[in-house]
Amino acid sequence: MDKKIALVSGANRGIGLATVAALAEKGVQVLLGARDLEKGKVAAKTLQDKGLDVEAVQLDTTDEASVTALVKTLDERFGKIDILVNNAGIALDYAPDMTTAEKLMGTFDVNVAGTARMTDHMVALLEKSDHARIVNVSSALASFGLRHDPSWIYKDIKMPTYAASKAALNAMIVSYTEELAEKGIKVHGVCPGLTATEATGYQGRPVEEAIQVIIKFALLVDASITGTFENDEGTIPW
Ligand SMILES: NC(=O)c1ccc[n+]([C@@H]2O[C@H](COP(=O)([O-])OP(=O)(O)OC[C@H]3O[C@@H](n4cnc5c(N)ncnc54)[C@H](OP(=O)(O)O)[C@@H]3O)[C@@H](O)[C@H]2O)c1
Repeated sequence: MDKKIALVSGANRGIGLATVAALAEKGVQVLLGARDLEKGKVAAKTLQDKGLDVEAVQLDTTDEASVTALVKTLDERFGKIDILVNNAGIALDYAPDMTTAEKLMGTFDVNVAGTARMTDHMVALLEKSDHARIVNVSSALASFGLRHDPSWIYKDIKMPTYAASKAALNAMIVSYTEELAEKGIKVHGVCPGLTATEATGYQGRPVEEAIQVIIKFALLVDASITGTFENDEGTIPW
């Protein structure tokens, strides 16, 4: 049987890198997307040295030319991809010397427009797969349902521009689910929970635990499941 091919954005470190490792350990051929190809190659080598089928590719999700060049390369080499993990993301709420408007525009550029750019361009490759899935790394911080629950454990975490960007991403996930259904492409939003990465100052749980929900949906076999928003405890309200 042919190996599945996955592309993970923002994968030179953190949740993205752990996702690449876990998918490769499950027998997937994984393309490790990195803005800085040299950083990507260094990260990929740590996995290649363990015998994993991983390769670094240059990918800046805010750069139209970078994304279209990658689509062309992947089309020529593989003619398809099976799994797209839209992981690249940033948070600017704690950045000093930025206005709220600047934080919003910077965050939306990566988390929303960047993810939409990836999705739009990668559809041509995903629709060639018999079991295509897009897993978008979102956040429960964007959940209106949880935000209104006074007993929610993260109710005191205020990251308004980040939450707004992931809420917009969630709205896009709902739209893409409907739009891509006719092409057979399944779409998911997942929240890894508070995870120890550079983004959180290494607060939170280990990446190897956090990524399990990403792997679950990336490799899901049941073709009837799409349009979900989940963490590892189950469904999250939008
Ligand atoms: N950590 C958490 O607690 C947590 C919780 C919920 C959701 N998430 C989400 O999980 C995802 C990964 O977060 P993380 O914690 O692993 O963060 P991280 O350690 O800061 O890693 C972010 C990754 O995204 C890349 N990136 C940033 N802008 C990019 C762009 N324009 N194009 C391509 N790649 C770009 C970074 O590349 P560079 O190295 O070049 O900057 C880096 O590889 C994000 O979407 C985040 O919102 C994280």
